Order: sequence, then C-alpha cells, then structure tokens
Amino acid sequence: MATREGRVHSSCIGEKVRVVITGKGGVGKTTLAALLAHRFARVGRTVLAVDGDPQQNLACTLGLSASDVQSIVPLSERKEYIAEKIGAVPGRGGFMVLNPDTADVVDRFSYPAGDGIRLLVLGGVKNAGSGCLCPEYTLLSAILRSAKYLPGDVVLLDTPAGLEHFGRAVAQGFSIALVVTDTSFNGRAVARELCRLAHECGIPLVTLVTNKAPVNGRDFVRNDLPPGLVSREIEIPDDPCIRAHEPSVVSVLDEECPAARAVGRLARAISPGW
Ligand SMILES: Nc1ncnc2c1ncn2[C@@H]1O[C@H](COP(=O)(O)OP(=O)(O)OP(=O)(O)O)[C@@H](O)[C@H]1O
Ligand SMILES: [Mg+2]
Repeated sequence: MATREGRVHSSCIGEKVRVVITGKGGVGKTTLAALLAHRFARVGRTVLAVDGDPQQNLACTLGLSASDVQSIVPLSERKEYIAEKIGAVPGRGGFMVLNPDTADVVDRFSYPAGDGIRLLVLGGVKNAGSGCLCPEYTLLSAILRSAKYLPGDVVLLDTPAGLEHFGRAVAQGFSIALVVTDTSFNGRAVARELCRLAHECGIPLVTLVTNKAPVNGRDFVRNDLPPGLVSREIEIPDDPCIRAHEPSVVSVLDEECPAARAVGRLARAISPGW
C-alpha cells in the first residue's frame, strides 16, 4: 500500500502525469484506468481518476461499494455549480462564461476512491460529440482543458471511445494518450484511427496498449500501424483473474495477477520517476 514516505518522495519528483485512455468499446479502457489508478496510488502518487464516460463504470471498477456508487452525482447534473461557473442554467441558454475558473471542482465534487485516489465523474452531455455550446459541455471541456492544474500527481481520464468527445479540450489538457485495443480486426482499425487522431491533435506521447493479448499479440498489432504514430507499445495479457474479480480491480492488484504486473510496467513507462 501507499506509504507516507512514498508520497513525500513522489512529490519531490514534482512530475505531473496527465493521461487520456481511449479505444474501441469493450477493449478494457475502464479496467486499465482503474488498474493504473491503484498502481500509482500504491507507490504513493496522488491520483485523480476522471470518469468521462456517461455510462459511469469507473467507480465500481475502482472498487467502490454499490451504495457509494449510487450516491455519486455527476458534474453534468450539478446545475447550481454549472450556473455558478458558466452563468447560464442548463436547458435555458443565455450568455455563458466560456473560460470559467474550475480550480475548486475536485475539492467540492470528487469522491474518495481508495487510499490516494479521488474520483471525479463528469456524466453525460447530449450532443457532446458535435461540441454543442450548452452550459454542461462548456463546463466539462473547461475542466479537461485545464487538467494540468487539477490536483494530483497523476490524472487519468477514462473515455467512452474515440477522441471526438471533448477532442480539443483533451488535447490541450493531456500529454499522454493510451490507445487501447484488443487483437480483433475492428479494435485494431479503431486504434489506428485513434493513434492518428491523437498524433494530429498534438498529444505528445501516444502509447499503444494491446489488452487481452495472447502471446505475440503486440507484434500482430504493430504491423498494422503507419510508422511514427506511436511512441511506445505495451501489452497486457488476457487475464482470467480480471474476469474472476469483476467489477473491481482491487484484488487483481492484491494478488499480483499477470495483468497487474503488466500495468506496473506500463505505469513505469508512463512515469519513469515513479
Ligand atoms: N486484460 C484483460 N483480461 C481479461 N479480461 C479483461 C482484460 N481487460 C478487461 N477485461 C474485461 O473486458 C471487459 C470490458 O472491459 P472494460 O469495461 O474495461 O472495457 P471498456 O473499454 O471500458 O468498455 P466500454 O467501451 O464499454 O466502456 C470487462 O468484462 C473486463 O473485465
Ligand atoms: Mg469503459
């Protein structure tokens, strides 16, 4: 578990890690986000896990109890906060503050999600893909755009799939994209496109993560990618331990299952000073 010494040590390093996790539906984005959150927290890093998926699966994957999960109110439903920051009420329109100061959002609306981990749940916004100019979208994209100012050594953003959702805001706030795929044809096709998009958006480090990988799965995927799109590749094995402990990943880490060890290697690659 995280130690006080570890936390002091990590803050001496002073390195901020901002990671967006993307990929086709069902490839293991949320599982990876939760495993990474606990991995970083266990070496003393403070972690902010941001659930950007309207389905809101991250809380139970992090190991929150059913009653804690039920009590979560996503930011998109915090109408008073949205009105306070944006100056307009959801559903009614009006003049909007497009660059609100959201520095207080984690203190006010995040939930404890394990030792060293806070969880911020964004919730759903209608027509987010088209970049609608509604107050909820304006607030959430402002938060993502300024991710480097959010508290936490590590910020991990779990996404529904694709980068369309808050695309430009994510590109401004996050410096590492983990593009997750399995070895399926469709997973790889989406991953190729997402690597290209992340690269074009200007996210400096794009890592391809082959999840649920059989032996040599990574080579299989790499051969599909045009050169220069990906800075790093890593694979996480198909691990029955994950399925056995669903929905929470906590026991996967406690038991040092193969996927947990692979995620440890990924965490070290993301943040060499950990
Ligand atoms: N390495 C792995 N080995 C075995 N099973 C895995 C692995 N990673 C994830 N899974 C399983 O795959 C399923 C999908 O995982 P997860 O919900 O994390 O995917 P997702 O990409 O977040 O899906 P969605 O797009 O619906 O949000 C889950 O049942 C999860 O337990
Ligand atoms: Mg998910």
